[in-house]
Amino acid sequence: MTGKLIDGKAIGQEIREEIKQRVDSLKEKGMQPGLAVILVGDNQASRTYVRNKEKSSIEAGMKSVLIELPETVSEEDLLAQVAELNKDDSIHGILVQLPLPKHIDEDLVIQAIDPDKDVDGFHPINVGKMIIGQRAYLSCTPYGIIKLLERTGTEIRGKHAVIVGRSNIVGKPMGQLLLQRDATVTYCHSKTENLAEFTKQADILIVAIGRAKFITAEHVKDGAVVIDVGMNRDENGKLCGDVEFETAKEKASAITPVPGGVGPMTITMLLKNTLQSAEKACA
Ligand code: GUN
Repeated sequence: MTGKLIDGKAIGQEIREEIKQRVDSLKEKGMQPGLAVILVGDNQASRTYVRNKEKSSIEAGMKSVLIELPETVSEEDLLAQVAELNKDDSIHGILVQLPLPKHIDEDLVIQAIDPDKDVDGFHPINVGKMIIGQRAYLSCTPYGIIKLLERTGTEIRGKHAVIVGRSNIVGKPMGQLLLQRDATVTYCHSKTENLAEFTKQADILIVAIGRAKFITAEHVKDGAVVIDVGMNRDENGKLCGDVEFETAKEKASAITPVPGGVGPMTITMLLKNTLQSAEKACA
């Protein structure tokens, strides 16, 4: 079996067009959704991510504010900047790009963001609400993966979803969102023994472990849907995922490429969360 390609770029674009229409109707009522991004220091990867977020929010018709702070900024000054954005009525979404420099407590900064403007879905209030099934901002990558599964008509109910990776921003919330949709969920991680025994049972295999081509054909059940969250460089410096795409696609019924799979969905869901925040403020 050669798996169908799950085109995150096209699905993301489709959703962005829907978002833009809703932004346009808010603008007709005199309201423009605003997203503020705080970038601390000069990490090149972070700078690229932030530039993409800025570009995409402008394309969707939103106001985009980028606040750049030096690597040496104090925790106090960063918290003061967050407090100012919390009070600013023209800003509906606040995102502090991670990682932060070591002298700053990331948890403290995330908790300083108004949960109603936490469009990353990282604030403990939003994480807690998500787990008990209340309305909350959802972490953008797992939320985007749910949309990919829905829009490709992938059945989730009753299926066995195996997640490889247990980060707070992808693996853990991913399992909860699938559980709410009636999947049977197994979490695997870097210390799991006999990993392939678990992954081979997966109807839906989601890999977010951060190791280049870690999952190969021998980990994949025939007909599985494979979602690759990884973003790595291979030995030739080429962008690649956590899944060895060429071999895994021979077993999968559908598979995401890297790039062009999960990545475009993450930014799309950030725009969706920002739009929803603005719609709430307008209601
Ligand atoms: N760093 C890498 N991914 C993310 C993300 O989704 N949000 C934030 N705030 N920082 C990140």
